[in-house]
Amino acid sequence: MGNLRLGDEAPDFTAETTDGTLNFHEWKGDSWAILFSHPKDFTPVCTTELGRFATLKGEFDKRGAKIIGVSVDPLDSHQGWAGDIADVGGTELNFPLIADPDRKVADLYDMIHPNANDTLTVRSLFIIGPDNKLKLTLTYPASTGRNVQEVIRVLDSLQLTANHSVATPVDWNDGDDVIISPAISDDDAKEKFPKGFEAKKPYLRYTPQPNR
Ligand code: BEZ
Repeated sequence: MGNLRLGDEAPDFTAETTDGTLNFHEWKGDSWAILFSHPKDFTPVCTTELGRFATLKGEFDKRGAKIIGVSVDPLDSHQGWAGDIADVGGTELNFPLIADPDRKVADLYDMIHPNANDTLTVRSLFIIGPDNKLKLTLTYPASTGRNVQEVIRVLDSLQLTANHSVATPVDWNDGDDVIISPAISDDDAKEKFPKGFEAKKPYLRYTPQPNR
């Protein structure tokens, strides 16, 4: 498929995972989901990333988000690797890891970037909304591990901005002031945001986070 863009439908697939065979859309249901690729089993950076996702899984649970990894190695390899992930990260692998030896999922989600590496995936990450649409993508090279706290931070922003007419500024964290959407007039903003707002510029209006 390739060239997935924000707002596109997240492609469906059926695949073997460390939690059994699953159909992605059925497994996901109307939750949020985070699908992320790892270049290869038994590699150092991937081992640290999976361990960290396992340790922070409760943060995703709290936000109604399911997490699922994918790597282009077979299931028996994943099962062997799971012990190392638990050893290194201190938490058992507590979410499904897709075995994708025929690269079905990797191709559907354009996770192999041939000018970087023609067999292994890059570190792709997709946040998918309850409507199965892509809300955010990240692409990192094999040599750079991702920041799981950043994934949680952007999930907080996506969930907040899906429900309120606000946007989140640079370096925002849950609890910080947010920005009122420029589409809202000052008069409407006074009604919608009873905690009030501060206009730094006519188009840059801060208000306390509305769901706090
Ligand atoms: C790693 O996870 O450490 C890794 C994976 C593939 C290529 C290079 C590094």
